[in-house]
Amino acid sequence: MKRILILGANGQLARNTTRFLLDRDDLRLTLYLRRARRLPNPDPARVAIVDGDVLDRDALEAAMRGQDVVYANLAGPMAQQARNIIAAMHATGLKRLIFISSMGIYGEVPGERYRSVLDPYRDSALAIERSDLDYTILRPGWFTHDATVNYQLTRAGEAFIGHDVSLDSLSDLIVKLVLSPTLEVRQSLGVSAA
Ligand SMILES: NC(=O)c1ccc[n+]([C@@H]2O[C@H](COP(=O)([O-])OP(=O)(O)OC[C@H]3O[C@@H](n4cnc5c(N)ncnc54)[C@H](OP(=O)(O)O)[C@@H]3O)[C@@H](O)[C@H]2O)c1
Repeated sequence: MKRILILGANGQLARNTTRFLLDRDDLRLTLYLRRARRLPNPDPARVAIVDGDVLDRDALEAAMRGQDVVYANLAGPMAQQARNIIAAMHATGLKRLIFISSMGIYGEVPGERYRSVLDPYRDSALAIERSDLDYTILRPGWFTHDATVNYQLTRAGEAFIGHDVSLDSLSDLIVKLVLSPTLEVRQSLGVSAA
């Protein structure tokens, strides 16, 4: 039985991925979010809901105890969030982190100039890449609601291909990453529709 902690669990992609994760009966989920009463528990036998802010180190560490994998689906001051996550994972002995970022953080999208709005995404990715964690950073294109799973990956140092990607494609990939301690470890992956 694998235990997954989802940070920012009320996010659009996190909610979609929760549905995918619950299709498997070998996973237990902890949904960590601010103002937790917003989110109904989709399956109380397998899902715990925790009210918490990622910037609250004590609450974050408490939620991490006993987990196997951390899946961070955040927005806002992401560099500070990433530093807190790394420190709390060190303190609790966790290694596997799946972290949602964005396309464009390395200026890798052909024809698009790097924009400062991406600074928190770039800086959080850098902090994670410098850590000793078994991370996988995802850099998705623009989300679509197509009910299809169809994606291609590009690696750090490669030009991003394409533009959009379905939420279902990202959720499918996140499930695979959650299940494997070694798949795409220490990689930063661009994800777009094939
Ligand atoms: N939409 C796109 O096309 C697209 C494309 C590429 C990348 N992305 C990025 O991918 C990421 C995930 O996307 P999404 O659509 O799922 O984002 P989202 O719906 O904005 O979800 C982000 C979540 O982060 C939570 N959060 C922010 N600060 C927090 C904190 N200190 N503690 C706990 N939770 C916190 C927010 O919680 P609250 O509800 O409490 O504010 C929110 O639920 C985002 O960073 C997004 O910018 C999006």
